[in-house]
Amino acid sequence: MFYGGDYNPEQWPEPVWREDLALMRAAGVTVVTVGVFAWSVLEPSPGRYAFGWLDTVLDGLAGAGIRVALATPTAAPPPWFSRRHPETLPVGPDGIRRSPGSRDTYCASAPAYRAAARRLAGALAERYRRHPALALWRVHNEYGTTCHCDLTADAFRGWLERRYGSLDALNDAWTTTFWSQRYGDWAEILPPRTTQYLPNPAQVLDFRRFTSDELLDAYREQRDVLRTVAPGVPVTTNFVLGDWVPVDHLRWSREVDLVAVDHYPAESGPAAEEEAAFLADLARGWALDGTGRPDWLLMETAPNLVYTRGRMHAKEPGRMTRHALAAVARGSRGAMFFQWRAPRGGAEVFHAAMVPHAGAETRVHREAAALGATLARTAELLDAAVEARVAVGFHEPSQWALDATVLPSSAVDHRTEARLAHRALARGGLTCDVVGGLDGLSRYAVLVLPCWYLLTDEQSATLAGWVTGGGRLVATYLTGVADDRARVHPGGRAGALRELLGVRLEEVHPLAEGAGRALSGGASGSLWSETVHLTGADATIRYEDGRPAVTRHRVGSGEAWYLSTRLDDEAYVALLGAVAEGAGVLPRRPPPPAGVEVVRRTRDGRGWLVAINHGERPYDLRADGLDLLTGEAVTAGDPLRPGAAVVVREGAGP
Ligand code: GLA
Repeated sequence: MFYGGDYNPEQWPEPVWREDLALMRAAGVTVVTVGVFAWSVLEPSPGRYAFGWLDTVLDGLAGAGIRVALATPTAAPPPWFSRRHPETLPVGPDGIRRSPGSRDTYCASAPAYRAAARRLAGALAERYRRHPALALWRVHNEYGTTCHCDLTADAFRGWLERRYGSLDALNDAWTTTFWSQRYGDWAEILPPRTTQYLPNPAQVLDFRRFTSDELLDAYREQRDVLRTVAPGVPVTTNFVLGDWVPVDHLRWSREVDLVAVDHYPAESGPAAEEEAAFLADLARGWALDGTGRPDWLLMETAPNLVYTRGRMHAKEPGRMTRHALAAVARGSRGAMFFQWRAPRGGAEVFHAAMVPHAGAETRVHREAAALGATLARTAELLDAAVEARVAVGFHEPSQWALDATVLPSSAVDHRTEARLAHRALARGGLTCDVVGGLDGLSRYAVLVLPCWYLLTDEQSATLAGWVTGGGRLVATYLTGVADDRARVHPGGRAGALRELLGVRLEEVHPLAEGAGRALSGGASGSLWSETVHLTGADATIRYEDGRPAVTRHRVGSGEAWYLSTRLDDEAYVALLGAVAEGAGVLPRRPPPPAGVEVVRRTRDGRGWLVAINHGERPYDLRADGLDLLTGEAVTAGDPLRPGAAVVVREGAGP
């Protein structure tokens, strides 16, 4: 199991390294990430490498039996590099070039930056390819820098030429007849920069796609150098979610040997657990798509204070452990933290660490140190499948398209709707995968597509085939409205989907914040509502005025449901539960109360139950078997105490 964190020995004198090694050993640390932001000390001046300190660090770690995720430090170019190659500094949408002075000060389209990144990756690989500590390459850090400079503009034009082939096709795709934007020469096309009024949403969407591909090329170049020089060592890069991240992780997951994600729940309290569960199920969806296996890695999370603006949230005792186990329950090969030792200065001086400013004699360090042994006991979960016959769709390009479009309500957000669907399933006792594509539908009996805005005719035909064969689709408002160029489908929805849902959407009525619409059966809708006409479907829930709000269309041996409003929590849980039940998918146990997570893993006929009680009341788990965390037998009737977790190998026997 991976257990450790980002380790930055370059910030400390050597005596501290010795203390670090002793503390890491005592804590059962297995892997640390080294060198993430070390460019300026690894290459203090052009072409002059200083590997001596890193040799000592890696030798020390190897001697202590600790492996290394060796990072390429390309996310933080040093001042000398920016001075020598000013054209590699990123330019904002306002046309202003950013100055050095922080991290991520690079443009992925700048040839000098790309060459330097390849060179650094090669130098590290040459030096350390046979080092016994080397377990994994971690390329870069959280790819996500967007640049709008002239070099980027050139690269964007090249990407567009490859995508569209001709200016006519591009003009058509971008609907440039609107507001006189027709392009007569490739040279006229620019990245979306600050302009007079609203930009063209198709241009903005394509620019996000281009940025994802351009960053992916930069990653691939480093990966390929590492693979060539150090064959056999797995390569990854750490993914991160956020509005600022222009990366289509589904595509990226096919290019890494292990899906690794960073997650710092933005929420506190019980909502943080629900958010973490969503991200974990999403990471597993990427892993299943990319590597075909359920394993992924929580590569960074916070042991305590989460670095947000405003007031930082201090994690309650036990939460670090429960978060780590919750990730493991859903497929993570362990848990790693940002960071090992709290820095004495720098931009994130108060970010939590496994060794806080107050040192090792602290509650946080003791909890971190105990976690090493806890995680080691869960190793037999590796490669066990997470039981999930239900899926929620999360499609980053749909999120970008909705971000780029002025919608009837700015409160609509695909990511939020995906999280709500995930939460409703979880509250109904159903574990789900979160999927970014429609290729693996045969694995699932139920699929929820919440505001999956971009859908081609081909994809809607895939959905129709799956439903006809028995699948249960639940599509919400704003699903399948536009094609992959963000052009609205004639008739208001992808053709096959319109037929599949058996409804015609005439008009949208966005709802004010806090306003609700009463629905039949005592439910209520918020955020969005529509005038929907039945063209084959039945209405199962209606608005107060009798118009259809939720519809079901039986097609072949399956069903296609449509939600024209955001259902209140209770009604959503009930509806998704009923749809799943209709598909023969029942929760294995009564839905756990708020704050309790139960996930079942299986492999070769064996089963494990991971149960975590984040809540305040004991939970009656009703499981028989062996708790791997304590080595003691668990029997039905043993309560799971508040704050406790168990990993139960089901059944009798060793
Ligand atoms: C990210 C980065 C880390 C650190 C944390 C702070 O995950 O990878 O270097 O900045 O955020 O939350």
